[in-house]
Amino acid sequence: EKEGYQHFMIKEINEQPKGVSETLMRRLDKEDNIVLDGIKLTKEDLEHINKIYIVACGTAYHAGLVGRYAIEKLARIPVEVDVASEFRYRDPFVDENTLFIAVSQSGETLDTLAALREAKRKGARILSIVNVVGSSVARESHDVFYTWAGPEIAVASTKAYTTQLIAMYLIALHMAKTADSISNEEYKKVIQELKTLPEKVKGILGDIDKIQHLGDAQFSNESVFFMGRGLDVNVAHEGSLKLKEISYINSFAIAAGELKHGTIALIEKGTLVMALATQDHLYDKMLSNIQEVRARGAYVVAVAKEGNKEVEKTADVVLYIPNTMDELTPVLSIIPLQLFAYFIAVARGCDVDKPKNLAKSVTVE
Ligand code: F6R
Repeated sequence: EKEGYQHFMIKEINEQPKGVSETLMRRLDKEDNIVLDGIKLTKEDLEHINKIYIVACGTAYHAGLVGRYAIEKLARIPVEVDVASEFRYRDPFVDENTLFIAVSQSGETLDTLAALREAKRKGARILSIVNVVGSSVARESHDVFYTWAGPEIAVASTKAYTTQLIAMYLIALHMAKTADSISNEEYKKVIQELKTLPEKVKGILGDIDKIQHLGDAQFSNESVFFMGRGLDVNVAHEGSLKLKEISYINSFAIAAGELKHGTIALIEKGTLVMALATQDHLYDKMLSNIQEVRARGAYVVAVAKEGNKEVEKTADVVLYIPNTMDELTPVLSIIPLQLFAYFIAVARGCDVDKPKNLAKSVTVE
């Protein structure tokens, strides 16, 4: 059951080193080749694919956003990511040369299933990333990648998300290798780095005092902004969803570059801003964005890579994650945000595992 933890959510947050490791290591052979036994995409199949749609809901959709980045960067195939409830109604360009990737923890989300059926009807090849073995989404797909998160009980998805990210990276690498769009050296480098992630996640989970303290703190303001650039925007969206769904605090996420196009009007003294600054090539730009909100009185909690101390000069609090390649940071940077949402919700006395109005599996439209 909860094995001594107060809630399933915190138990599942702590199971992430294991889930990430299992999802990864079960797909690598002794020579670090990726073995995807549920995926039969050949080199010829891939040559025909000129477009990929990733379709999912909620947290799984956020994993899809990271997936787009990984696939476009490594495999050089254009990717669109859609919320499943929207996909069917916009007459998407799907044909026999389309690869449709469904992402779903439960494999029973009705919107995702309906989108999958529509894409299949139009001739697309269907690959799904699913946690529950034998679920509807898995059964109706041509190819399946099972995540090894184990059963997820808490309504707020945590370990399913990080394992979905690993699935995305492996699929992207597999496609890149099959299509010869990655050098052997680069391939090895990414695999080696992926292998270090479980220990790094464990490191973050072993040092939570600062985050716990933040969760207990009372902020003068009832809304929280998450912002970032590049891959960090996607993590900002997931962090914001975690916070609102379990703590009922109004929160949203934006690309930091969009601040001055409207949202900055809402920043006032005491506004809490969660600023993700993990992308090396965008680091200086993020520091300016942090300064912009700080100048208007915001209280800034930054998430940054270890060693990037510059941010301490502009942010009020910095939560550090271990160093890794920019492409892989989402697996690490989401951890402090999950914990942050959890501790705030607990401090507010919320029913963390069963937030009001939400169901674990959404089987209605
Ligand atoms: C958020 C959450 C939901 C699910 C969404 C999709 O924490 O759990 O947003 O991610 O309902 O569910 P699955 O992945 O089962 O299709």
